[in-house]
Amino acid sequence: METVVSGIRPTGKLHLGNYFGALRNFISMQNEHNCYFFIADYHSLTTHPTPTDLYGNVRQILVEYLAAGLDPDKSTLYIQSDVPEVAELYLFLNMNAYIGELERCTSFKDKIRQQPQNVNAGLLTYPTLMAADILIHRATKVPVGKDQEQHLEMTRQFSNRFNRMYKVNYFPEPQAFNFGNELVKIPGLNGSGKMGKSEGEGNAIYLADEPEAIRKKVMKAVTDSGPTEPNQTKPEAIQNIFQLMKVVSATETLNFFEEQYNTCQIRYGDMKKQLAQDMIVFTEPFREKIKAISADETYISKVARMGKEKAQENANKTIREVREIIGFKKF
Ligand code: TYM
Repeated sequence: METVVSGIRPTGKLHLGNYFGALRNFISMQNEHNCYFFIADYHSLTTHPTPTDLYGNVRQILVEYLAAGLDPDKSTLYIQSDVPEVAELYLFLNMNAYIGELERCTSFKDKIRQQPQNVNAGLLTYPTLMAADILIHRATKVPVGKDQEQHLEMTRQFSNRFNRMYKVNYFPEPQAFNFGNELVKIPGLNGSGKMGKSEGEGNAIYLADEPEAIRKKVMKAVTDSGPTEPNQTKPEAIQNIFQLMKVVSATETLNFFEEQYNTCQIRYGDMKKQLAQDMIVFTEPFREKIKAISADETYISKVARMGKEKAQENANKTIREVREIIGFKKF
């Protein structure tokens, strides 16, 4: 049995990228492993949300975790800020994290570009906070999408460095995980790059989206005037539509449109109509459950309380041991 940790930042609703990159793995892992799944609310402070937005977004992710099938009796579901031991481990790890390696991190460089007016220290030390999230439970497996690969590499660096520094074999080397073996990157609808909330309006399909919203967004997805030669290589925007179809549609449907593309008969309007329909069917069970769970305040607070207790117990043990290793002893 492995110890598994992963989290999602509360920046709004969950989209299909979150689902296929992370959440789907959470659901399958909870049956076999010792799992800790959290809502990364400390992390979301790097973008300065208002208190109302922060609270609402944390609540929304908790509801969506439950609606997607995470079971609070099987795995520990908690809110990061309910476990301040994480912040203490973050402080310790920061003492051995070097400016150079943090500045070289791709996600930091991306953030500088995205929010040049707010390049705060939290952004720079994002990888150490993420390492603290993982190492606080001494996890060995971390289900994440492709975009988190470098952060996991840095976690291993920090873990090994700590062990070397204090001549212990305390922290493991956590590995990024996807049950399909390869880490995935789900594309968005605007022709290039990954599905994501910050990638522009209409780029992401959310689990909570109403059918009409899904139809509108998919029909607006970027395509081109179609292939002119048989078996032509697909440009990125077209490849993306096929990739989305691959995750939500039946194999025969995908094969049908592949064939149409390869014989230059494809009509993107038809393909998008089918894709939208398959996305609507796929998201339907989530939509209904999100509404039901969201109305059950008592259940939501009970889940949060239970998760806090279980996560704190384990985090507290780690922090006590780490303090001891570092040399903080009782007088
Ligand atoms: P976040 O909140 O951006 O995304 C949550 C998870 O969803 C995955 N994901 C995707 N996967 C495939 N295709 C996409 N288009 C896509 N968009 C998002 C992400 O890879 C991620 O697994 N730093 C993390 C949160 C975090 C964390 C952790 C994760 C904080 N501490 C500790 C694991 C362990 C993040 O910002 O993910």
